Amino acid sequence: MNILLIGGGGREHTLAWKLKQSTHCKQLYIAPGNAGTARLGINIALTSTDFNGLASFCTGNKIDMIIVGPEEPLVKGIYDFFKTNPATAHIHFIGPSKEASQLEGSKAYAKAFMNRHNIPTAAYREFDAANFEEGINYIKNHSLPIVLKADGLAAGKGVIICSSQIEALAEFDLMIQHAKFGEAGKRVVIEQFLDGIELSVFVLTDGKNYVLLPEAKDYKRIGKGNTGPNTGGMGAVSPVPFADDAYLQKVKELIVEPTIAGLLSEKLEYQGIVFIGLINVKGEPFVIEYNCRFGDPETEVIIPRIENDLVEILLATAQNRLNEIEIKTSSKTAVTVVAVSGGYPNDHETGKEIYGLDDSAMEGSIIFHSGTRQENNKVLTNGGRVLAVTSFGDNIAEAAEQSNNLLEQVFFEGVYFRDDIGFEFRQA
Ligand code: AMP
Ligand code: GLY
Repeated sequence: MNILLIGGGGREHTLAWKLKQSTHCKQLYIAPGNAGTARLGINIALTSTDFNGLASFCTGNKIDMIIVGPEEPLVKGIYDFFKTNPATAHIHFIGPSKEASQLEGSKAYAKAFMNRHNIPTAAYREFDAANFEEGINYIKNHSLPIVLKADGLAAGKGVIICSSQIEALAEFDLMIQHAKFGEAGKRVVIEQFLDGIELSVFVLTDGKNYVLLPEAKDYKRIGKGNTGPNTGGMGAVSPVPFADDAYLQKVKELIVEPTIAGLLSEKLEYQGIVFIGLINVKGEPFVIEYNCRFGDPETEVIIPRIENDLVEILLATAQNRLNEIEIKTSSKTAVTVVAVSGGYPNDHETGKEIYGLDDSAMEGSIIFHSGTRQENNKVLTNGGRVLAVTSFGDNIAEAAEQSNNLLEQVFFEGVYFRDDIGFEFRQA
């Protein structure tokens, strides 16, 4: 099959690495890709929201399957665009419809969906300019901390956890009256704070059947010990020690099954990943968010643990026969550690040469590129998150240590990584 993968981060390099191993993969294209994906397939200079450009590329190059990495094209309706165009409707498409992608694209839509299907989530109310005053009273009477969420996509920045009513009132005003997170963020979900440990659960569904992929936990804060500002993700581990069989069974019964049944009963077209971000509160799972795509950097630990042929699984998804698939997962632990540009998640420079990529190769580790680009024979930094190094081990400490050791051999100006990924699960 000729496959087009859309996106250009560490998630896409990992997917490309796995797709390339499939006997069904004839030609692999990545749009726009990065210096890492260029070693596995052909990078195409098209952005993920250039639907016309992508569609003509697909017809011109006889593409059989499309896999969408990031959320933006999905929320903007790339699935509907391809399925309603006679020239591209036949292509196996991995990614949900525009309507179904609202589970990620609108926090209010996701909360209402969860309430309709009795899926455990934090108590909430929804506000906009029309009931702004009511929102102020709601905040004044709310227990602390208070969680404010901008409704639309906000590149991971639209959630604010406020430790005082004064802070919450100020943020609420900025969001609704001053469009702090843009037009879509002028609708605000205010919800109860849930105190617990987070888990990322990945469900692959054809809209009716589903399979559970390995779970993961990511580390969003920039600093050691989960301190400092949020980032796109500084590392991830899989499996996650507290998510044992009994816990995952509970997640299936209380969350995954009602979610898939809800998609089916509401006739939401969904052939792709439902990434459920949940919080474990005293042994009970609550959904904090849905995403309609793979996570980054979670993909860098879950995909390498899957032993099945990825194209076979995705084809079964597109053909509504996921009931025929059994996921085989390596019992090894995978840890990814992300190396970022100095200054990230704030202003940072790019275009720095990366040294030691080839010399640092180690058995049991894979170097995935996040923000990189090739210029002549050099690899340059091209974003905040630059590399994600995944290593396998018998436990989290061993795998994390190997990723750290490898990253010590790689250099670019300003390089920084957290050497404590998985810290709360490392035994002495
Ligand atoms: P989201 O964009 O919904 O994933 O939220 C970003 C982050 O905010 C999550 O990964 C959590 O760490 C935190 N968060 C979101 N909702 C809640 C909540 N109700 N209680 C506690 N933390 C939350
Ligand atoms: N790692 C979280 C995300 O991809 O949204």
